[in-house]
Amino acid sequence: METIFSGIQPSGSLTLGNYLGAMKQFVNLQSAYNCYFCIVDEHAITVPQDRLKLRENIRSLAALYLASGINHEEATLFIQSEVPAHTQLGWIMQTQCYIGELERMTQFKDKSNGKEAVSSALLTYPPLMAADILLYNANLVPVGNDQKQHLELTRDLAERFNRKYNDIFTIPNIKVPDVGARIMSLQDPTRKMSKSDDNQKATVYMLDEPKRIEKKIKSAVTDSEGIIRFDPEEKPGISNLMTILASCTNQTLNQVELNYQGVGYGPFKQDVANAVIEVLTPIQERYHDMINSQALDDILDHGAEKANLVANRTLAKAKKAIGLGRVKK
Ligand code: AQP
Repeated sequence: METIFSGIQPSGSLTLGNYLGAMKQFVNLQSAYNCYFCIVDEHAITVPQDRLKLRENIRSLAALYLASGINHEEATLFIQSEVPAHTQLGWIMQTQCYIGELERMTQFKDKSNGKEAVSSALLTYPPLMAADILLYNANLVPVGNDQKQHLELTRDLAERFNRKYNDIFTIPNIKVPDVGARIMSLQDPTRKMSKSDDNQKATVYMLDEPKRIEKKIKSAVTDSEGIIRFDPEEKPGISNLMTILASCTNQTLNQVELNYQGVGYGPFKQDVANAVIEVLTPIQERYHDMINSQALDDILDHGAEKANLVANRTLAKAKKAIGLGRVKK
């Protein structure tokens, strides 16, 4: 059975973009693969986080994974900082990565743009992400579109290491969903929907109440043409809402376009809101059952144990290959 690894940062409240771009894929793929799903808290601290809020977000993200349908008996769910091999291999991967490669990452450019104090970890985040993936010999990494560039760098670093030292790492392939790989902001549909967007109206959070979801979608920026057709260049707002509807109802964009010929934006937005609410309501119900449970801790303890076992094996191989430590006499 092939292996999947993917992670989500507990850097805020999870968005509909995180769900449609990442989590929904995880749930659909989990029974066909040996899966590792991670709460990448060490990535989250590359930008300032409130300590108590971070703790809350870590637990909330774990509960959301399970509420979205991750089966802990099939998949390994764990917290990155509970598996020290991630930062250890992350350091080794930094030694294989050039500064120029890191400076070219668009996510670094976006997140550092205009900021006075930018942590060095924000720049060196991709080698840690490479370590996350390589520790589990992942064949496939399901992610949204924005992570494509980091994945390409992961492949390059793994190939570079294998060539120089020893053939240790599996070269992972990327998988982005056909529809929903990049859900856009509701207020500025030329930008990605993001957990850390300051404008609350721009983002549907997975835990938003139905009324709030409806309000946000009804006030989403569109255009004045009045025709529902998919054209991300000319009609980014409508195209984004079509993508959300198609992904939530498992339809193609073509089907959505056909179904909404001659329909006005008002009823269309109402249908988009209903579809989102229908997807998120059962997740929210399961989330509330799970968030304060002992079962959640047991699942994370078990996940960390299993992940540590596999990760330590790969780390030992990498350390040996590169010459770290000693050979006991
Ligand atoms: N808007 C999106 N559309 C589709 N997929 C998305 N993902 C994120 N935003 C969208 C996918 O969700 C997974 C987890 O992302 P992450 O938490 O590692 O960080 P991110 O990509 O930086 O996501 P955010 O929401 O924008 O977080 P912040 O604001 O903290 O930077 C990934 O698979 C990602 O592709």
